[in-house]
Amino acid sequence: MSQSKTALHPKTIETVKATAPILEARGEEITTHFYKRMFERNPELLNVFNQTNQKKGRQPQALANSVLAAAKNIDQLENILPVVKQIAHKHRSLQIKPEQYPIVGENLLAAMKEVLGDAATDDVLSAWEEAYGVIADVFISVEQKMYEEAAQQSGGWDGFRAFTVDKKVPESDVITSFYLRPRDGGSLPSFEPGQYITVKAEIPGEEFLHLRQYSLSDAPNKDYFRISVKREEGSDLLPEGIVSHYLHRSVNEGDVLELTAPAGDFYLQPSDRPVVLISGGVGLTPLMSMFNTLVDENRRPVTFIQAAQSSAHHAMHAATAKAAGECDNVSYHVCYDVVTEEDNADPYIQKQGRIDKEWLASLLPKEEADYYFCGPFPFLQAVNQMLKNDFNISEERMHFEFFGPAADLETN
Ligand SMILES: Cc1cc2nc3c(=O)[nH]c(=O)nc-3n(C[C@H](O)[C@H](O)[C@H](O)COP(=O)(O)OP(=O)(O)OC[C@H]3O[C@@H](n4cnc5c(N)ncnc54)[C@H](O)[C@@H]3O)c2cc1C
Ligand code: HEM
Repeated sequence: MSQSKTALHPKTIETVKATAPILEARGEEITTHFYKRMFERNPELLNVFNQTNQKKGRQPQALANSVLAAAKNIDQLENILPVVKQIAHKHRSLQIKPEQYPIVGENLLAAMKEVLGDAATDDVLSAWEEAYGVIADVFISVEQKMYEEAAQQSGGWDGFRAFTVDKKVPESDVITSFYLRPRDGGSLPSFEPGQYITVKAEIPGEEFLHLRQYSLSDAPNKDYFRISVKREEGSDLLPEGIVSHYLHRSVNEGDVLELTAPAGDFYLQPSDRPVVLISGGVGLTPLMSMFNTLVDENRRPVTFIQAAQSSAHHAMHAATAKAAGECDNVSYHVCYDVVTEEDNADPYIQKQGRIDKEWLASLLPKEEADYYFCGPFPFLQAVNQMLKNDFNISEERMHFEFFGPAADLETN
């Protein structure tokens, strides 16, 4: 990181920083054009990038935000190290390699020129070329370390490893768990509760591969990995989810899935403070891994708050309720959009509707606690806003995960 301070000429730094406002205004236009351009010239990358995220515009937005953050911090890239690490985890999980950086660099520079026209002078472009080289080197060196760690840890591996589906267990009408064991019979690495793996789906009839992340939904140090996948329904206007449907419909016990080693920076941090876990829908998966770990440790008080559409959609309720019943340290609270008469008899199903300030006030611990939350984007926004503004929880106590490219919870 410190290399960035010396590697760039002050004039280059000045030029790059001076372009931050134009990038702020036209960043997404540039990155949208960049992707179009890159996929035309390097169609093999369609095997790597999530095309649904492209269609939804979320990937160009994530790249534009990170390029902008880099421009603003070009003389002190260590300021954006946490963001670099988060992206690097995703890159490592997707097996992005150093030789691919020049492809992105060339297309990004060309896209700047083509979108900005005369505003992208030769000076601006050569300053950015230099800056991109420094930024790319930072990513490459952070990722290099992550590749080494993933391969060298006990039970670890490099690249994709074949796993056999040992058990396929429906957890609700829409969520199914897959218990996966290495086909080579070797051991598994430990992982941090909350981390995810990438699945490579080679789907008959699909032109390209599809890579998707799934959180490990059980505690580490078992002889299997478990992922729990929600079947993403389509509508008259939208297609059904490609990989989740493939997994639900076509992948059965005995079939093989290829996975990269666990990655991600959303995980249970060591501490003695109480823990609050808050999930929306299938966002419960990384929190289940944390929950099962905390229950095994039986040390820290745990409050688990889950929101789901209904009991038919809600996964792993019986197992969570059982653990809560057996463990004095655990309190468990559920709300559904739709509550049935049968639900009313269940002591853990305590509210109809969404998580709100009043309900949270009755559930949250009085002591300082660590908060972990995961769910759809509007859920993350709402929980983030309530914890921060209504309960004055500091940012360092709040941890959350996006089930897609990261975005700014405050401004979107
Ligand atoms: C770190 C991480 C962890 C994750 N963990 C889990 C997990 O534990 N369990 C889990 O189920 N998922 C998890 N996900 C999400 C998962 O990776 C997939 O995104 C999810 O399964 C959907 O993939 P798909 O291929 O089925 O759907 P896609 O084909 O990617 O489609 C997704 C949705 O987009 C809609 N869509 C398609 N085209 C468009 C369009 N043009 N415009 C607007 N919408 C469109 C589809 O209808 C569908 O609802 C995680 C994601 C991340 C990043
Ligand atoms: C310095 C250069 C780069 C920057 C700043 C950058 C930035 C980003 C960002 C911000 C994300 C979103 C992270 C998230 O999911 O939250 C991302 C994801 C990703 N990046 Fe990069 N990246 C760079 C280089 C590359 C290269 C060289 C490749 C490979 C050709 C690549 C491939 C990907 C892929 C495949 C994803 C996931 C996309 C998705 O899920 O849709 N990136 N990157």
